[in-house]
Amino acid sequence: MADYWMDWASLLLRWLHVITAIAWIGSSFYFVWLDLSLRKREGLTEGVHGESWSVHGGGFYHVQKYLVAPAQMPPELHWFKYESYVTWISGFSLLVVTYYWGASAYLIDHGVAVWSPLQAIGLSLLGLILGWLVYDGLCRSPVGRHLPTLAITVFVLILLASWLFSQAFSSRAALLHVGAMVATWMTANVFFIIIPNQKKVVRSLEAGEAPDPALGQQAKQRSTHNNYLTLPVLFMMLSNHYPMTFVGEQLWILVALVVLIGGIVRDYFNASHAGGHGWRIRWQWPAASVLTILLAVWAMPPSLTNATADTVVTDAEALQLVTTHCAGCHAAQPTQLGFTTAPKGVILETLEEIDRYRAQIYSQSVASQAMPLGNMTQMTQAERARLGAWIQAQ
Ligand code: HEC
Repeated sequence: MADYWMDWASLLLRWLHVITAIAWIGSSFYFVWLDLSLRKREGLTEGVHGESWSVHGGGFYHVQKYLVAPAQMPPELHWFKYESYVTWISGFSLLVVTYYWGASAYLIDHGVAVWSPLQAIGLSLLGLILGWLVYDGLCRSPVGRHLPTLAITVFVLILLASWLFSQAFSSRAALLHVGAMVATWMTANVFFIIIPNQKKVVRSLEAGEAPDPALGQQAKQRSTHNNYLTLPVLFMMLSNHYPMTFVGEQLWILVALVVLIGGIVRDYFNASHAGGHGWRIRWQWPAASVLTILLAVWAMPPSLTNATADTVVTDAEALQLVTTHCAGCHAAQPTQLGFTTAPKGVILETLEEIDRYRAQIYSQSVASQAMPLGNMTQMTQAERARLGAWIQAQ
């Protein structure tokens, strides 16, 4: 019963999460584009940094950016913040519903580390909080004054966190935690830096004082980080549905490639919005493509098989393996505690059913170790190899 309601909670939260993430990323991409499309022109009003014309929805838009701010407060001012906050709140709630509520199945893998659910949840929260404190500290420290040094340090920090998560959680949870940590930085940048700084600027204007330009610069630094981190974070969130990305201990390598690929693609858009041409906008797609191919080739499961091509695995043995390791949950009437229906509707009780799902079975339990969930039944490497050999012979 509780699981039924949790499924609804999960679906509704995911719906909300995707909607608000679209709104947030949409508006943030729009503003980055707007910023980069600004052009200076003779005769702009004092304080105007540049202007941009665009056409959309049956009319023309004429936007001007004031740096740091106009001389007086405009009569009406629109803010962009709730998209970001609600994305984080819904995402965190989804983490709670999936990985905390189901900690022993989703978060913990006893093959990786033995925690009680409470310990694992504590570690997850600690990771998110510490991650932010270290990142924020770096941005404020002398390292933060030099963009390339900061970029490399933050990159290394992400890889270090990936490695730590992969030592603590199931490989699926580890990857999601890297995404959740970086996404937390992004919202925290909005909540703790960008919006408060903008509020200070508004207060100075209201008091008739000149706003401090450093406030705008700090906000811009964080908003640039958010821009470059968006695409990698989206990959990490989506990867949860693709077991070939659950690479266990080598997670940091996957994350390194994903951050580079996402960042490079983003750089192409930034450079072209800013009117870049020639090599400035030619290198990104080839570089990102080569790295993506490298990633896909690298993540390919090693031919897990001790079992060679001529290993014969009988139907009876395959059925036996699946009955032992899968059918406790994947049955019309699951016997595993906490399961009332077959997860994702995947029932694996007969040879025909197993045959029908053989590609998924391969990717979930042979090529990766996503299933059995949390390796609850302690399926061994050799058993996976034999199941794989049977599937390949089909
Ligand atoms: C402890 C319960 C449990 C066991 C044991 C288990 N699974 Fe699953 N399985 C799940 C759950 C829960 C999901 C849904 C996962 C999700 O939310 O993405 C799932 C999903 C799946 C899916 C669908 C994946 C998708 O996203 O389409 C396949 C295929 C699958 N399992 C295969 C297996 C195989 C093969 C085994 C045995 C080697 C196995 N499972 C053992 C609980 C289990």
